[in-house]
Amino acid sequence: MTMNTTHQLQSERTLERTSQAEAFITACYQEMEKTEAEREQRLAGVREEIRLTGTYVHTAEELTHGARMAWRHNSRCIGRLFWHSLEVIDAREAGTAEEVAEALLHHVKHAYNGGRIRPVITVFRSGEDPERAIRIWNHQLIRYAGYPGDSEHPRAGDPASDDFTALCLKLGWQGSGGDFDLLPLVISVGAEGPRWFPLPPGLVREVPLSHPEISRFPELGLRWYPVPIVSDMCLEIGGITYPAAPFNGWYMETEIGSRNFGDTDRYNRLPAVADLLGLDRSTNTTLWKDRALLELNRAVLHSFKQAGVSIVDHHTAAEQFVRFQQQEKRQGREASGKWGWLIPPMSPSSTPIWNDNKLRELPLSPRFVYRKTAVQTGPEDTGQMRGCPFHSPD
Ligand code: ARG
Repeated sequence: MTMNTTHQLQSERTLERTSQAEAFITACYQEMEKTEAEREQRLAGVREEIRLTGTYVHTAEELTHGARMAWRHNSRCIGRLFWHSLEVIDAREAGTAEEVAEALLHHVKHAYNGGRIRPVITVFRSGEDPERAIRIWNHQLIRYAGYPGDSEHPRAGDPASDDFTALCLKLGWQGSGGDFDLLPLVISVGAEGPRWFPLPPGLVREVPLSHPEISRFPELGLRWYPVPIVSDMCLEIGGITYPAAPFNGWYMETEIGSRNFGDTDRYNRLPAVADLLGLDRSTNTTLWKDRALLELNRAVLHSFKQAGVSIVDHHTAAEQFVRFQQQEKRQGREASGKWGWLIPPMSPSSTPIWNDNKLRELPLSPRFVYRKTAVQTGPEDTGQMRGCPFHSPD
């Protein structure tokens, strides 16, 4: 590449970044009800910073509101009524893998909050400098290992974690080989190799599954962790990408009952539940899968409730989503939405979202974007991280 084109590319990048920054600051300051003078002053400051350094640094306030906007804009999330309550932890100062691990353990504890789950995001430094880029290799901070099995051992654990588990084992982590081994945190900084940190015993209070009427349900030996903390998406605010920004809400019961335990390529437990219920699995017409799904989902709601851990059922979540849409409309905004992700994976036609034929995805920013997981790209690929290329999982 000639000097000239490098230069040209750089100035194109600067121009693009300036316009993304301007759009964000304008929207953000308006929503935060700042005065016109405050906004103009900040816009001038940001333009100057980008001209001099090629980038700019968000204030704590901008980071907080920007992260909340990204949640509000996420077209796949049914729980967005509470977007404004997101707690934003500014961890941009964390520099080493140890410091990152410490901040992540704090996130787990703070979000769990003794069972009264708080929606939280921890934002680590931006991906501007690839040599210092922080990378969290986990898909979620808390998740179970998966073991594909071989001729002597049957498969065990969560198949969705097979690849990541193999990496952890290669790094020296050891699991029991069972169905519910909690995986360690895996972190790398820049081009350094990944390092693993175990979740301290007792930090995660798992919920054993029981059923309000079926007293033999615990025989299935099922349990789940209390907080889903997604850690493999990038947060993008005003032209700046944060490649490490794990966030959580609380669970909707179908995520666990229908998908994590029901999917044939996950724990695949519908046959075991049906057998416990004494259902006839020799024909589809007994609707044994539907009956197993229903009781599994009831067990999840019942068990979380009994353990004092926040959870929402899919009917309530769907009602809350409709309220979110109305709230957005009153603000003069349209709620972006992806129908196939918003309808719950049990009895979807019994929720108001089913008949909503106006839902559409809008290109909104700030936003969360998928990135290829570190397991897929390998550690050297810091350039990919910085760009955080869109990667669709479906
Ligand atoms: N569906 C994922 C799981 O079952 C969690 C995704 C985020 N869910 C949430 N309620 N915030 O682990």
